[in-house]
Amino acid sequence: MKTKPMTSLPERGRPWAELRAELEALHAGEGDWRGGRLPAFVFHLDEATDHAVREAYAMYFSENGLGMRVFPGLARLESEVIAMGLALFNAPAGAAGSFTSGGTESLFLAVKTARDWFRAERGGTGRLNAVLPYSAHPAFDKAAHYLDLEIRRVPLAAGFRADVAAMEGAIDASTCLIAGSAPGYTHGCFDSFEELGALAQRHGVWMHVDACFGGLTAPFARDLGEPITKFDFTVPGATSLSADLHKYGYAAKGASLFLLREERLKSHQRFSSSNWPHGTYATDTFSGSRPAGAIAAAWAALNSLGAAGYREAVRRVLDEKRRLVAGIEAIPGLTVVRPSESTILLYTSAQPAPDIEAIAQSLSRRGWVVGRTKEPRGIHIALNGVHVGIAERYLADLAAAIREAGETPASQRAEARYN
Ligand SMILES: Cc1ncc(COP(=O)(O)O)c(C=O)c1O
Repeated sequence: MKTKPMTSLPERGRPWAELRAELEALHAGEGDWRGGRLPAFVFHLDEATDHAVREAYAMYFSENGLGMRVFPGLARLESEVIAMGLALFNAPAGAAGSFTSGGTESLFLAVKTARDWFRAERGGTGRLNAVLPYSAHPAFDKAAHYLDLEIRRVPLAAGFRADVAAMEGAIDASTCLIAGSAPGYTHGCFDSFEELGALAQRHGVWMHVDACFGGLTAPFARDLGEPITKFDFTVPGATSLSADLHKYGYAAKGASLFLLREERLKSHQRFSSSNWPHGTYATDTFSGSRPAGAIAAAWAALNSLGAAGYREAVRRVLDEKRRLVAGIEAIPGLTVVRPSESTILLYTSAQPAPDIEAIAQSLSRRGWVVGRTKEPRGIHIALNGVHVGIAERYLADLAAAIREAGETPASQRAEARYN
């Protein structure tokens, strides 16, 4: 069915059966994530988890996280999700947290809370700044843009880790925040948080641990014996931590945690105003109305999988990654970046041959949506449950792509872009 795009609100409503058919037609044309052919965007484990998540979301479809006073059950679900997060990241007694709409909102809150804390408790004035490794997520820059902070990105050390000494050189009296990633999205590499925490303590600044990507894999990978860099509240100097539930928590989209070492720091996070006719309006998050469904769905995901379920999920993804890494590294000229540190798969080629862009274009022709990175120029997949089982097909197509790349030079180089 081919319909013309709508340009205005229809005068009369149409029956659901008709709308449903239209939706189904559009939906059928979406990226085929079920076959593991997307490099990012969809995190899916299995039908049983999705079923629990979907039902929980639907049950809380109408409620609103802005009105916890009238939804005590929802308030309890939210506090249980936060408590599970605090325990998972070894937060000390007296820690606190918030449920947010995603990594971007969690990082926004980190920047906002650090800024207001620095002004109130460290006497910061004027335009403040945040010192970050070059690998940090752009949501920090977005927050800084909204909050009028300067972002100072510091080039990475060897091995794509934060260069802590160089970060120290970028700190001045107006620095309120430093941060690192656990891991960074591009290279899948964990920054050295113990060094970053010590740096934060030496300079009296806030340190945020961005575990948005790895928060729901790293603790379980460590249980499995993987060498995971220390990144949670056991790191002295770690003031706050973000971890996304809508990635490896396999919850519905719109779910992340922003956690604070000390509850009292929430006073710098909270916004409150009574300068309007309705009286006091106070929120801990950027959002006002908040989808209760996302909270219930996150609670359902955490409880339906449990630690054992997450451990098994991580084991399957890392096993698949090992198969992919072995196959890729067997191809002359290809190198996997930091092959064992996280669920990120990133590989590059010894330029000029094989040409990574020609490989990417050939993989695209074979039906893979290719994630490209800029530095280094490489091919990137955020491996998760949806990619378990792709290795054989992917490696066969990669072998064909390598042959083709030798014969067909790349057409115009595609831009490395995240979305
Ligand atoms: C390390 C890291 N931080 C933050 C984010 C932002 O998360 P979101 O897209 O949920 O806003 C991402 C997303 O991939 C990430 O990988």
